[in-house]
Amino acid sequence: MPTINNHFLKLAAGYLFPEIGRRVDEFTKANPDTAAKVIKMGIGDVTEPLTEACVVAMHKAVDDMSKRESFHGYGPNEGYPWLREAIVQHDYQSRGCDISADEIFISDASKCDCANILDILGHDNTIAVTDPVYPVYVDTNVMAGNTGGAEEAGRYGGLVYLPVTAENSFTPQLPTTKVDVIYLCYPNNPTGSVATKQTLKKWVDYAKENGSLILFDAAYEAYVTEPGIPRSIYEIQGAREVAIEFRSFSKNAGFTGTRCAFAVVPKGLTGKVADGTDIELHKLWSRRQSTKFNGVSYIVQRGAEAVYSEAGQQQIAGLVSFYLENARIIREALQGAGMTVFGGVNAPYVWVKTPAGQSSWEFFDTLLNDAHIVGTPGSGFGASGESYFRISAFNSRENVEEAMQRIGAVLAV
Ligand code: MLT
Repeated sequence: MPTINNHFLKLAAGYLFPEIGRRVDEFTKANPDTAAKVIKMGIGDVTEPLTEACVVAMHKAVDDMSKRESFHGYGPNEGYPWLREAIVQHDYQSRGCDISADEIFISDASKCDCANILDILGHDNTIAVTDPVYPVYVDTNVMAGNTGGAEEAGRYGGLVYLPVTAENSFTPQLPTTKVDVIYLCYPNNPTGSVATKQTLKKWVDYAKENGSLILFDAAYEAYVTEPGIPRSIYEIQGAREVAIEFRSFSKNAGFTGTRCAFAVVPKGLTGKVADGTDIELHKLWSRRQSTKFNGVSYIVQRGAEAVYSEAGQQQIAGLVSFYLENARIIREALQGAGMTVFGGVNAPYVWVKTPAGQSSWEFFDTLLNDAHIVGTPGSGFGASGESYFRISAFNSRENVEEAMQRIGAVLAV
């Protein structure tokens, strides 16, 4: 019998979203008449169809695959040059960021990239995460053996937690000790907050002074509406010397079911070898990807390329505005119902304080039982998320309006 990776046994609970799904299934089995009424505003999964430009490009790509002269077998592991060029031109060079196409690695998901990056990092790093945080950053470090066990509140030994709550305006303090790796996510999942240029500059300066690596998750950058808020960490001078960035087509172009994302690993960004010498992370990531990943399908990459066409840009702006309008409706309805509400302006997530005396999971149960609405308990994102609750704006307008009416009625009781 094989032995197992015992670090998995340290994981305090099931992965958050399947755990929510399990509880919802249990509820609908016990209350079959309510099943059809349940509105899911938990996981941030998009609901609106792919935009026309992407659909047309993917249809054409399917036709390409049907003819010998335009058929594509294995593509380049790091992605097709035409997609990498389009990304660099539109997402980086147009914003004055010094990133080149050979620093872009196309992948199937930011979630996977955030997890897989640990393959190229040592196990002796001190790692900092915000609290609350996207659970993937923490759980993958637990699985990799980079942490101790979970304490009662769910925090793992060995990680440096940086609380983000209303008290510090959801802006984490710089660590008071030296950390080697820092995960940052802006616009933030789950709190919906953003980082100003000054805040990101502090992090870049900290990373430079301490030789730290920033893992910057910018999956929600398309939702930035306020002027002056950076969409990429590379808008900060010097960031390419300290940061890897993760981006996705899931939330801007609705690719959660289509799968396409990318990581930016700048050349010249280095890590330490055991003998004290420096080595380029780009080289290691390239080696990792070419060994463990065969690339994203030609059809999907053609779809992603269409995001950068003129029509694609207009259409995805429409999609993002649609979800942001949902976020506005949610924010205003919940404020009107007397709740304290954060986020939802530059992000598709609205982060609310639970009503007095209710824990995050208690409020989850109240909404599920009494309004048949599913959200995400803040404590599922970390101990400092306790007494908060996340509502996702990814839904149809009809469902959002209906959900707000039902929540309003429950809160009025
Ligand atoms: C979320 O709900 O936090 C996101 O959907 C997670 C993800 O994109 O993996």
